[in-house]
Amino acid sequence: MINLKPLELLRGLVNEQLSAAANEKELEELRLRYLGRKGELTAFLKQMGQVPPEERPVIGKLVNKARTEIEEMFAQKARELSSRSLEQRLRAEKIDVTLPGKSVKTGMRHPLSAVLDEVKEIFLGMGFTAVEGPEIEYDYYCFGALNMPKTHPARDTQDTLYITDDIVLRTQTSSVQVRVMEKQKPPIRIISPGRVYRSDQIDATHSPLFHQIEGLVVDKGITMGNLKGILEVFARRLFGEGAKVRFRPHHFPYTEPSAEMDTMCYLCGGKGCRVCKFEGYIELLGCGMVHPKVLSDLGIDPEIYSGFAFGIGLDRIAMRRYGIDDMRLFFENDMRFLSQFR
Ligand code: DAH
Repeated sequence: MINLKPLELLRGLVNEQLSAAANEKELEELRLRYLGRKGELTAFLKQMGQVPPEERPVIGKLVNKARTEIEEMFAQKARELSSRSLEQRLRAEKIDVTLPGKSVKTGMRHPLSAVLDEVKEIFLGMGFTAVEGPEIEYDYYCFGALNMPKTHPARDTQDTLYITDDIVLRTQTSSVQVRVMEKQKPPIRIISPGRVYRSDQIDATHSPLFHQIEGLVVDKGITMGNLKGILEVFARRLFGEGAKVRFRPHHFPYTEPSAEMDTMCYLCGGKGCRVCKFEGYIELLGCGMVHPKVLSDLGIDPEIYSGFAFGIGLDRIAMRRYGIDDMRLFFENDMRFLSQFR
């Protein structure tokens, strides 16, 4: 008769070692040791062949029972380990919802964009539409169609950045006036903000890249009174109800008459100081009544229609608005400067 004692011992041993197993790897090692193809239990079961046939039912039953028990012990341990590792994971990945959140850094608008939005808002509120034009522009749109003869000083290579003889980086947004009048018949009421370029040396008040907002109104019966009215309202909306402006006669080849509009100096209130270069006023924009020749060259009959136009320097407004004394700050991308404009 086959000795069942080793089977008993085996069961005890497995039980003991299983309870000591700390993880799935150790469990797997034990499984191979006992239940694997070369395992100890497997070796024992192979002896069954030697059992005489008459004893087999009884012995077989006992052996099977022991084997089922051992297998169940393994299964039980496997369940235990897996629920323990789940628990560990849950504990490790626990989220403490009471911790204060990490603050998200939000971006901010560049001071020039903020001022541009303000200016745009004012004109859109008065019924203007915003349009855009190319920064790389034909000489014709930037100068030719604006009544600037080849000899005009603004066409000097000192001021204009030329790409070819015929193509320039636009020096003024006035080019967009031409593009609009070429396509659209009156009534016209547009603004056009954008970058302009001039071959200027960089200093506190000059930059080869700066920003303008062009304005153009063409309709029947438009007068200088309309121009003054619109621009005065603009200045008051932007700088407050008390803002004072003045118009000075000037010359632009594409307007007649032409003027420049100044606002009273925010620092000295007109007395004269360092900021306004002792003028009491600061220049804000150029403007005028659209020259009849510009209109007629673009197919708009100056006997029927008239219009006014203006070009505002945006950078200067932003400097005034925020009390910035050096234009270079706008372009240096220094976060210490930019983050002040939240
Ligand atoms: N283009 C001028 C400049 O860059 C500004 C200007 C003056 C625009 C008179 C106009 C205007 O539309 O009518 O200084």
